[in-house]
Amino acid sequence: MTTNLADTAVAGLRLSRLTKSFKSPQGPVHAVRGIDITVEAGQTVALLGPNGAGKSTTIDMLLGLLPSDAGTIELFGMSPAQAVAAGAVGAMLQVGGVISDLNVRELLKMVASLYPTPLPVDEVVELTRIQDLVGRKTTKLSGGQTQRLRFAIGLISNPDLLVLDEPTVAMDVEARRQFWTTMREFAARGKTVLFATHYLEEADAYADRIILMAHGRIVADGPATEIKATVGLRTIRATLPGADLKALAALSGVTNVDTRGDGVILNCSDSDRALRALLPAFPAARDIEVSGAGLEEAFLQLTADTPETDL
Ligand SMILES: Nc1ncnc2c1ncn2[C@@H]1O[C@H](COP(=O)(O)OP(=O)(O)O)[C@@H](O)[C@H]1O
Ligand SMILES: [Mg+2]
Repeated sequence: MTTNLADTAVAGLRLSRLTKSFKSPQGPVHAVRGIDITVEAGQTVALLGPNGAGKSTTIDMLLGLLPSDAGTIELFGMSPAQAVAAGAVGAMLQVGGVISDLNVRELLKMVASLYPTPLPVDEVVELTRIQDLVGRKTTKLSGGQTQRLRFAIGLISNPDLLVLDEPTVAMDVEARRQFWTTMREFAARGKTVLFATHYLEEADAYADRIILMAHGRIVADGPATEIKATVGLRTIRATLPGADLKALAALSGVTNVDTRGDGVILNCSDSDRALRALLPAFPAARDIEVSGAGLEEAFLQLTADTPETDL
C-alpha cells in the first residue's frame, strides 16, 4: 500500500450531504445540516466559523470518530477508516491527551510503528521544532508543549491529508507563529490541509481557501480575499445627535444603522463610499471612527437570513 496519494487525480476530500444531529434535553441540536465540501489534493483549506458552527462535528465525522446521520465521506477515494489505517490522514484535535509512560521520542517511535510509511522520527522532531522535548516524559509537558507534541504525532504517519481542529488555541504568540510556519512547510510538500479556526486572521493568513460555516451550514466558500471582503465588514461610528436614521441608512455603502445615545453606528458594505456620502449629508457628524467589524458581528450579518430551524 502506498500513501503517496496526493499525485492521483482523486479529490483529497469529498463530503456530500453530510448531516449530524445530537439529542439534548431541549430537543435535537442540528450540528451539521447536509454540507458538501470537495477539497482538491494539495489545497490548504480553513473551516472558519464561530463557536458552535459545527466545525468539530464535521472534522470528527471525516476522521471516522463520529458516525454521521446521513451523507458520504471520501478521503482520497477511501472511507475514513481505510484512509486512517493507511496512514493517509494525520490529525490534531481539540481534545484528547497524549498521556503515556513514555518519553516524547519513545512515544513518537511507538506511534510511527503503527503506520506503513512513517516519516523518520528525527525529521518530525526537526520539522515541529521539539528537539528540546524529546527526552521528556509526556506527562511532564506544559499545555503548549503538549500541543507541539500532538502536532508531531499528527505528522508522523507522513499523511497526505492533515486535519487540525483549532490547533493554536493553547499557544502563545511565538508558538503560534512557529506552528503555522511548520504547517506551511508541510503543506508545501504537496499535502492537503484542512484546519478549523474561529480566527479570521488565521484563515486569511494561512489558507488558500476559506469555507465559512455557521449554524451547521456553509455560508460562504472561496479564496481568502473573497471571504474577507464578505465578512470583513466595516463600521463607521460618529457622534450625531438627533440624526435621521432613515436618511443615514439610505446612504450609499451603508447596510444598516444603529444608535448608542448620541452616537450612530453605520454598518457598511463599502465604508469609503459611505464616509464620502456621510460628510456632505451630515456635516454635524464628529468623532468619526472607521473600524473593521468583529468576526462575530460579521457572522451575525451573514447568517441573519439562515434559518435556525432545520431544512
Ligand atoms: N456530543 C454532543 N452532544 C450534544 N451536542 C453537541 C455535541 N457535540 C457538539 N454538540 C453541539 O453541536 C453544535 C456544533 O458543535 P461543534 O461541532 O463542536 O462546533 P464548533 O467546533 O464549530 O465550535 C453545538 O451547538 C454543540 O453544542
Ligand atoms: Mg470546535
